[in-house]
Amino acid sequence: MSKGKILVTGGTGYIGSHTAVELQQAGYDVVIIDNLSNSNRDVIDGIERITGIRPSFVEADCTDINALRKLFEAHKGIRGIINFAASKAVGESIEKPLFYYRNNLNTLMNLLELMPENGVEGIVFSSSCTVYGEPDENPVTENSPIKEATSPYGNTKQISEEIIRDYVRSGAGIKSVILRYFNPVGAHPSAEIGELPNGVPQNLVPYLTQTAIGIRKELSVFGDDYSTPDGSCIRDFINVVDLAKAHVVAVERMLSGRSQEDVEIFNLGTGVGLSVKELIAAFERATGVKVPHKIVGRRAGDIEKVWANPERANKILGWKATATIDDTMRSAWAWQLHLHDLGK
Ligand code: NAD
Ligand code: WQD
Repeated sequence: MSKGKILVTGGTGYIGSHTAVELQQAGYDVVIIDNLSNSNRDVIDGIERITGIRPSFVEADCTDINALRKLFEAHKGIRGIINFAASKAVGESIEKPLFYYRNNLNTLMNLLELMPENGVEGIVFSSSCTVYGEPDENPVTENSPIKEATSPYGNTKQISEEIIRDYVRSGAGIKSVILRYFNPVGAHPSAEIGELPNGVPQNLVPYLTQTAIGIRKELSVFGDDYSTPDGSCIRDFINVVDLAKAHVVAVERMLSGRSQEDVEIFNLGTGVGLSVKELIAAFERATGVKVPHKIVGRRAGDIEKVWANPERANKILGWKATATIDDTMRSAWAWQLHLHDLGK
């Protein structure tokens, strides 16, 4: 028997597609809405190949409130929403701030507005470790200070968290779980779904795998003069399937009335900081494939080091990241090989 219907916005995207798989495997019915601005409909086939179940798919824009009204009309009984739909390129957000504010905030506000009248009980929101900026201390807890955002993208996450808090407090009768992801990496072990960067990747792992396969000549390591043991930046790289599983637990908690507060916030990370150089070494060790790389200057705006204290999620959600970095790197490589076979 189905555990209920969940609307996954941005569900053909990287994290959304992995979460759709985990939700289906946990017994939920999944309805995906995506405008395909940063993904494509083949992802629906990938989800079906893994789970044997084809999720419902609506191609529409979440900033279009009438399209959302139609969706709720056509798919009655949605119990929860997981809101992944957002634009996420930090650099692009500096060039097009209004587009980022409009897309990310109108999407969230439209969903919130339609929840009570459609009987939707709760919303899980994709936030980010970007809200902590350059932390004074590591690892960061959910109570670490929120720093002034350094990009419109980062600011949309801070403002979104505030919008959710204000709306829930207004007596709207809904609950929310805010999940602050650290650096999601890797792909589904089946290599049926994974990250599909648009153009030249800005993020480390897609650039690394594209270099390993020969699409890019060399990976640039942005700086080795940071105050870290090997001089390169430190991040908390979290496996995307582990991350996806946390959403299932969060939805279950929210819908079963076990939340201790109407808005709960959790860091989703491994608790282990890995440097850029250590990540490259892990990839080479796990796959046996060499990654040509060179040290270049620092990238403007980069955080020196940030990693999570995930104890709150470990204790309260009963969720823990379990994948090893070697497994995660192997999954990223298998996905890159799969894309190569498809000629992408
Ligand atoms: P993604 O770009 O792969 O997925 C987002 C999906 O949303 C895409 O398929 C895109 O087409 C869709 N979308 C965007 N605007 C839309 C709109 N107005 N209506 C309908 N669909 C729309 O990104 P992702 O990495 O899967 O990220 C998912 C969420 O997690 C985002 O909110 C992102 O900000 C957040 N997040 C991502 C990371 C990361 O490093 N990947 C880290 C922290 C937080
Ligand atoms: C990781 C490290 C780079 C590329 C971004 C967003 C953040 C969050 C996660 C959404 C850094 C280094 C990278 C390369 C390199 N997203 N690097 N060579 O910057 O931690 O975070 O994604 O919320 O908001 O800012 O991720 O993968 O870009 O970089 O040396 O070609 O890898 O300098 O130290 P980042 P990233």
